[in-house]
Amino acid sequence: MYELAPSMLSADLNRLGEQLNFLERQGCRWLHIDVMDGDFVPSISFGMPVIQSIRRESHLFFDVHMMVEYPEKYVETMKQCGADQLTVHAEACRHLDRTLASIREAGMRAGVALNPATPLENIQYVYDRLDMVLLMTVNPGYGGQSYLPAMTEKIRELRKRLDAAGYEKVDIEVDGGINRDTADTVLEAGASILVAGSAVFQGDMEDNLRFFRERLEAYSGGGR
Ligand code: DX5
Ligand code: ZN
Repeated sequence: MYELAPSMLSADLNRLGEQLNFLERQGCRWLHIDVMDGDFVPSISFGMPVIQSIRRESHLFFDVHMMVEYPEKYVETMKQCGADQLTVHAEACRHLDRTLASIREAGMRAGVALNPATPLENIQYVYDRLDMVLLMTVNPGYGGQSYLPAMTEKIRELRKRLDAAGYEKVDIEVDGGINRDTADTVLEAGASILVAGSAVFQGDMEDNLRFFRERLEAYSGGGR
């Protein structure tokens, strides 16, 4: 599956409803929602009440990225708030297998996220629990940071391992520093879901979305 997942963290929160409507009218299907607790990452973003309230107006697929400690505490609540997919950090889960299983049991797609320095080995025994792996391509916590070049090899290696193990359908999402300069690099390496915050919401949104649509189309036509 090839998708752009605009990251709400970079939206103008004063005009959030309007901007989410605009994304839908432009043909976007996904919305990336970063939940931060000020503990797993230094910053605090938004949580349940915000997600619940945008759910009332939006048809977008809610791709919720939990940058929080003890994410297992929020699985049911996030489902009730309207999350379609829940991604937890491997670094924040003492019982990753169980937490991933509970996400699917709650009726959501399950994702696991890895910080840049976390090895791929940490998820090798949970492939069967996964719909998606989110590779952080910056250190999590803030929008607008630069893509870490070492992540290109990590994406390539993960795609190779998933395919070799028979998990061709598990998607790789990349998050952080994805823009006009780095989109082709990550797509070529095997990512298929691109999170983009500043590269979508800063400047001319319509033109930004056109850029990503064209790049994603170029790869989806040619591959998976
Ligand atoms: C960072 C968040 C990202 C962030 C990406 O910790 O997980 O989703 O919004 O922002 P950009 O695309 O500006 O790097
Ligand atoms: Zn994110």
